[in-house]
Amino acid sequence: MDYDRYDRIRAVQWQGDHLRLLDQRLLPQEERWIDCSNAAQVTQAIKDLAVRGAPAIGIAAAWGVVLAAKQGEALEPALAMLRAARPTAVNLMWALDRMKARIAAGADAAALEREAQAIQDEDLAANRHMGELGAGLIAPHSGVLTHCNTGSLATSGFGTALGVIRAGVAGGRIDHVYAGETRPWQQGARLTMWELVRDGIPAKLIADSAASHLMRSGVVQWVIVGADRIAANGDTANKIGTYQLAIAARHHGVKFMVVAPSSTVDMATASGDDIEIELRDSAELLAVAGRRTVVEGADAWNPVFDVTPAELIDAIVTERGVIERPTTLAMQALFGS
Ligand code: MRU
Repeated sequence: MDYDRYDRIRAVQWQGDHLRLLDQRLLPQEERWIDCSNAAQVTQAIKDLAVRGAPAIGIAAAWGVVLAAKQGEALEPALAMLRAARPTAVNLMWALDRMKARIAAGADAAALEREAQAIQDEDLAANRHMGELGAGLIAPHSGVLTHCNTGSLATSGFGTALGVIRAGVAGGRIDHVYAGETRPWQQGARLTMWELVRDGIPAKLIADSAASHLMRSGVVQWVIVGADRIAANGDTANKIGTYQLAIAARHHGVKFMVVAPSSTVDMATASGDDIEIELRDSAELLAVAGRRTVVEGADAWNPVFDVTPAELIDAIVTERGVIERPTTLAMQALFGS
């Protein structure tokens, strides 16, 4: 695997005394970096989606705790503030729980720095391993469709679903890549296409509403997505629109793969019914690139995640292994109860 070609983007960078984040609100038009020097700035960057993607927000939050420790801030309130930044991706709570355990064990700022670095490094290693595992499920010369952005921007590097696509393209298993634009925030159009073009991976953007038509044409064999939280029975919360892709995939005989590190698995949540779905401001739906496109006076409903039931998922790929046709028992075998 040529990681020099396929793993070059680092959107979350620890600088020793501050955190640098590639501002994902501005891509692809502008590559601007934000410097955070305290936990409040990191919290705001997570809320505003300057940094986004389940693993990336967990990693950023861990660095937020390090900043709080270095600034001599009270750590309990800093942990609570970071935790409340977004509700759905469990990686955020998982990373903060890890930092909290180190604090409880008496860690100083230097030890917390080592823990945050470990969280970041382990995520990269997990992604590279999942890339191999996921690509191994795909027959040579396949076509794939992905949703949202699950690449280097959303993780410590390489990506989850996009890591599988990178590995699949590099290994000759994937010939055709399609990315849904992912309304309303356009993670697919703005971010995934930016990553794919940088890697020189031929890919086509589709309108979200073109997905069923694409599947019917027979050109895609797999839909490959990431996750924000995987419940104990395998139900998976991911970017809004994922559920309808899974329904369409099953109807057309297209396989459906979820790729996520074990930090996204939440065995304390029994099923997808118990996952909180983030509702964001209707303004995100009523405008495109900051310009209002809907008549004044109109309202909108803007849930930004949905839950795909386990029975629609053919494979969950984690760094601990692959679960085909997920069930609670199979999840427990890999992740405990
Ligand atoms: O609202 P976002 O952009 O943070 O949502 C991101 C997603 O839904 C991703 O698919 C998920 O976090 C997996 S990223 C590896």
